This record gives sequence, C-alpha cells and structure tokens, in this order.
Amino acid sequence: MKYQDKLRLIKKIFQGKKVNKKNFSYPLLTDGYSSSDLREASKILLSGKLTMSKTTKKFEKFFAKKIGAKYALMVNSGSSANLLSLFCLINPFKKKRLKKGDECLVPALCWSTSLWPIIQAGLKPVFVDVNLDTFTTDLNIIKKNITKKTKAVMILNVLGNCSEMEKIKRYLNKKKIYLIEDTCEALGSKYKKKFLGTYGDFGTYSFYYSHQITSGEGGMVVCNSKEDYNILKSLRAHGWDREIKKNNSTEFNFVNEGFNLRPLEVSAAIGLNQFRRLKKLKDIRKKNRNNLIKSITSSKKWSNQFSFFKPRKNLDPSWFGFPLMINKNKNKNFNKNRFLRYLNINRVENRPIISGNFINQPAIKKYNIKFKRSDLKNSQEIEDRGFFIGLPTQILDKNKINKITNLLLNVNNF
Ligand SMILES: Cc1ncc(COP(=O)(O)O)c(C=O)c1O
Repeated sequence: MKYQDKLRLIKKIFQGKKVNKKNFSYPLLTDGYSSSDLREASKILLSGKLTMSKTTKKFEKFFAKKIGAKYALMVNSGSSANLLSLFCLINPFKKKRLKKGDECLVPALCWSTSLWPIIQAGLKPVFVDVNLDTFTTDLNIIKKNITKKTKAVMILNVLGNCSEMEKIKRYLNKKKIYLIEDTCEALGSKYKKKFLGTYGDFGTYSFYYSHQITSGEGGMVVCNSKEDYNILKSLRAHGWDREIKKNNSTEFNFVNEGFNLRPLEVSAAIGLNQFRRLKKLKDIRKKNRNNLIKSITSSKKWSNQFSFFKPRKNLDPSWFGFPLMINKNKNKNFNKNRFLRYLNINRVENRPIISGNFINQPAIKKYNIKFKRSDLKNSQEIEDRGFFIGLPTQILDKNKINKITNLLLNVNNF
C-alpha cells in the first residue's frame, strides 16, 4: 500500500472514531490516550517499521536522562523488566552472580510478576511484611528477615509510595545484597529529590493501562552498570550480541541465553509521548487526590469511615489509583464485598491493593512456598480492609467528586 493510501485510511478511521461507551462512569482509567499519542503511533504505522527501532532507542535515552539512571532498556512489559533483572543477577556473564537457592526478600503485598521471576531464576523467595500506612516495607522489617542466605531484596514502590530507600540502599550495600526496585506502580515519584527506581541496582517500570503513563503494553528497566546493561540487552533479544557490538552488526551471533522481550516501536512512540507529559499527569492526579480527600473528610457524613494511604516522609508522589482502608465500624454484620459490589453497581470500578496478601493466592500452594502467616499481619490487614478506585488524569469536577464522596460514605450500611 502506498504511503498516501495508508494516510487516507488512517484519516478515515479518525473521522469515524466512535466514542467508547464505558461500563463504568468512574473507571480505573478514563481514556488514557491523547490525540498526539495517536498521531505519534500513526507515524510509526505509516513508516511500516513496527518492530523495535530508532524510536525505542530515543525513548530509552530520554528516559534514562530524565530519571537519572545511566542506562534504560525498554521491554514489552513491567513483568519482563522484572524477569530480565532477576535473570541478569544469575547470568554467567555477571562477575558477582547469584546461585541457585540464594534467598531474595519480597513483600507479601506484591504483584505476581514481582514474585515469579525470583522463582523462575532459581532463587528462593522469602516473604516480608509491609507498613500499614504506606503499604511498603520498612528497613526494620528487612533487617529482621536478613540471614546469611539473603543475596537480594525486591522492594515494591506501591501505588506511587515508597520505602525508606536511602537507608535501605545504604544498609544493603554494606551487606553486599542486591536491590531490585519494582517501580511499576510509581513512575515519576521522587524520594529525597531522586526518582524512585534509581536507588536499586535495577529499577523496573510498567506502562500498562492505568499506570502513570501507558503505552498499551510496555516497560523499562534501568541500571547503572555497563556489565548489567550489556547482559540485559542480550537477554532481551535471543541472547545475540547485535546491540552490544559497537558496529551494530546483524550477524547471527549468540553469546548468551535469551528471551524475546522486545517492545513494539508503536509502544515506544506512545510511551515517549506520554513520558514527556508525565509531570502534568502527575500534578493532575495529585490535585484529584487532594480534592477527593478534602471532600470526603469535610462531608457531614464523615465519621472516620476510612484511613488514607500516607505518603512516606520526603516523598514527592506520583500517585496511581486512590487506595482506601475501611476502618472498623459499628455495623457488626459489615461485609466488605457487599460494599464493593455496591460501588460496582453504581459504576465505580474498584480492585484490591495490588493482589492482596499473595500467600492467599492458589499458586502459592502449588509451588510449595514456605511462609509464616503470623509474620505477615499487615499485608493481611491491607487485603481485608483495603481496596482502590481510579484517580483520573483529567481534573475531576465537583459533581463527580460529590457523587464518589456520597457513595463511599455509605460504607457502614453494608
Ligand atoms: C508492582 C507491579 N509489578 C509488576 C507489574 C507488571 O507490569 P506489567 O503489567 O506491565 O507486566 C505490575 C502490574 O500492574 C505491578 O503492579
């Protein structure tokens, strides 16, 4: 098809673009793509070069520079970014690599693909608890769980929040323990003026639907070591050395094991365009969150029905979602699921905090992962009392805020 014909086709599609009829009047994410995102994606479609190419490289360079990491590598998801980080740690090209059976701490309040890459890489996950206010783990929790076998720690920067990253990094450095910072839910958050994801040996990000930026599917891994960067590049694409060699040769030379976790060029184009307006999106979400809290706590119906997620001290947050913890109430028959169903019926989409306390997931039994339930009380409490609703990237108007406020404050009736 000729370029002009393709252009005509795209224009035609745009003209007839139907407005998406959403099932939810308050979804987890309202229309994540701007017209300029669509324009950038269309340029790639028109070029005919859909596989990873120059735009991906441009996005990676820009991302690394803005975030403050030496290297950034784009992949097809946040899960792949975690997978690559863990496989880099055990790779034979890594001088101080980890061995089978080495232990890696991971919060029980985690996403499935924060956990599985640890197991897939042959390491042993050890679940640790989190702080009830921030949903992230603390240095004292980490210290309590470190043994001689601990060789890595996977931290999760939950919904834009973070742990005491500086202290944790310093402590782990002394012990020569690797730190992976799963920042899939916190792109753009800064702790002590430094972007989250840059404290760890690896920082991973997700650009999935409803995250701080979205490219449909997509992710990024950042690091500061050239050794790691080269390993990550070969692991991303089949184990060959094409992107490692200076002359960018196209030989079929396989120097390492590998996957194919390359992103599509279209995702890179949308991701780069969204990343350029991250600050704006972050500010809108902050404003929406403040307005929601203000409206809820100043309502006549307010009687401490909820506790709000607290930002860690020294955090400049880039929020993802609006999490709430339901406080104990006088209704002895209160049923959280009944309340969440009521929100759903009223078209307010909602979901658990990450995936709740992961030890309750059926796969844990299948993989025979050991843990002590009594050590993970806060993760359980967050599963029992917590949930989150969306935090849009458009300013919420008063009507919508009032409606959400009224629905939420009916909580005690369920
Ligand atoms: C903490 C965390 N890690 C990893 C991921 C995986 O990211 P992706 O969906 O891009 O694979 C998610 C997804 O939501 C997540 O919340």
